[in-house]
Amino acid sequence: MLDLKRQYQPLHQELLEAVGHVLETQQFILGEPVAAFEKAATRQLGVAHALGCSSGTDALWLALAAAGVGPGQAVLSTPFSFFASVSSILRAGAVPVLADIDPSTFNLDPDAVEAVLDSPSGAAVRALLPVHLYGQAADFTAMARIAKTFSLKTVEDAAQAWGAEWKGVKAGGLGDAAAFSFYPTKNLSAAGDAGMISTNSEEIAERARALRQHGMRRRYYHDEVGWNTRMDGFQGAILSIKLKYIDGWNDARRAVAARYRSLFAAAGVAEAGPYPAKGIVLPHEVKGSKHVWHQYVIRTQRRDELRAFLAARKIGSEIYYPVPLHRQEALKFLGYTEGAFPEAERAAREVLALPIFPELREDEQQTVVTAIAEFLS
Ligand SMILES: Cc1ncc(COP(=O)(O)O)c(C=O)c1O
Repeated sequence: MLDLKRQYQPLHQELLEAVGHVLETQQFILGEPVAAFEKAATRQLGVAHALGCSSGTDALWLALAAAGVGPGQAVLSTPFSFFASVSSILRAGAVPVLADIDPSTFNLDPDAVEAVLDSPSGAAVRALLPVHLYGQAADFTAMARIAKTFSLKTVEDAAQAWGAEWKGVKAGGLGDAAAFSFYPTKNLSAAGDAGMISTNSEEIAERARALRQHGMRRRYYHDEVGWNTRMDGFQGAILSIKLKYIDGWNDARRAVAARYRSLFAAAGVAEAGPYPAKGIVLPHEVKGSKHVWHQYVIRTQRRDELRAFLAARKIGSEIYYPVPLHRQEALKFLGYTEGAFPEAERAAREVLALPIFPELREDEQQTVVTAIAEFLS
C-alpha cells in the first residue's frame, strides 16, 4: 500500500544531519528548528502565519479554539472523514452538526450544507469545518459564499491536503484557519506525530500561539486555559528538509493518478460515476482544483470481495472509512440514525483506496490494474 523507505533512502544523510543539529543545539521543543519550518511553510502556502503543533488532531482543536469556537456553539462538518474532524469539535466544547457529501468528490455537498443551516439544527452553527478529503479541496467557492450568508467562520481540515489548491489558492489559505497533519503516511510527513495550523488572521495566530502553550503570553501567567500542543524540534527539522521536496512528490503523485486512469481505461473496466454498476468508478480532479492524491479511491459495489481478492495476491488496499462518523459508537449520542446521510453511508460501503505514493512504479500499478480487471471479469 505504501513503501515509506523509498522516500527515506535518498534523504537519509540530509535527515541525519538535521536530527544531529537538533541534538547539538538541544532545541527539543519549538525553538529555532520549528520556527524555521514555520517560516518556510508560510512562504510555501502563501499564508501569513503557520504554527507547528503536536498532531493534526491538536491542530484542529487549536484552530477551532483560536477562531473563537466554544461551548454553546455548533460546528458543521462531514460524516465522511477521519474521526478527528468531528472529535476536535467536541474537544473545543462545541456540538458537531453534520451534512451529507457529494458522491462524486466525497467532500461536503454545498446544497446539503445550506439545507442543514436553514433547518432548526443549523441555528447554533457558528463555523464550517470542511475536510479536503483524499487530497482534493472542498468546494471553497461555495463554502465561502455560505459562510458569508450565514456569518460563519471557516476552519479547513487540510490534514490530507498539503499543496492542494482551489481556484489557485492553496489549502491552508482558503478559510479563516486550517489544520494540517504530518502523520507519517501523509504527503508531507514527520517522523512521528506532528501538525500545524495556518491562518491569515493576526488575531487567530496570536491566540493560537498562546493556546498552544497553556494560554501563556508571559511565562507562567495564564490568560486562559489552553493545552500543550507544541511541535518537537526533531519534527520541525525533519519537516524543513521534506518541505524542499514536497512539490516534486505531489507532482509524482499526480502522475501516478493519471497513469492509473489510462491503465484502467486500457483495461476497459472504468465506468462513468458517481455510482458504480458492474465495474469500478475512478476518482477525478474537479475543474479548478489541484488534487494532490493523498489517496486514490475507487468505488465498487463488490468492495469487500475485491479487497480480499487483492489481499490474496499480496496487493495492499485500505478502506477510508468503513463507518461514517454518525454511525460510530462514540458519536451515537449526537442522535443521527441510519439513513441520515445516505451518500456518506453508501460511500462507506463502496470506497477502496489503492496503493499510491510518489515512488510507485508503472509495473506495480499495472499489477494492481490487471488484478482488478481479472476480478471484474
Ligand atoms: C482528515 C483528517 N483529519 C484529521 C487527522 C488527524 O491528524 P493526526 O493523526 O495528525 O492527529 C487526520 C489524520 O490522521 C485526517 O486524515
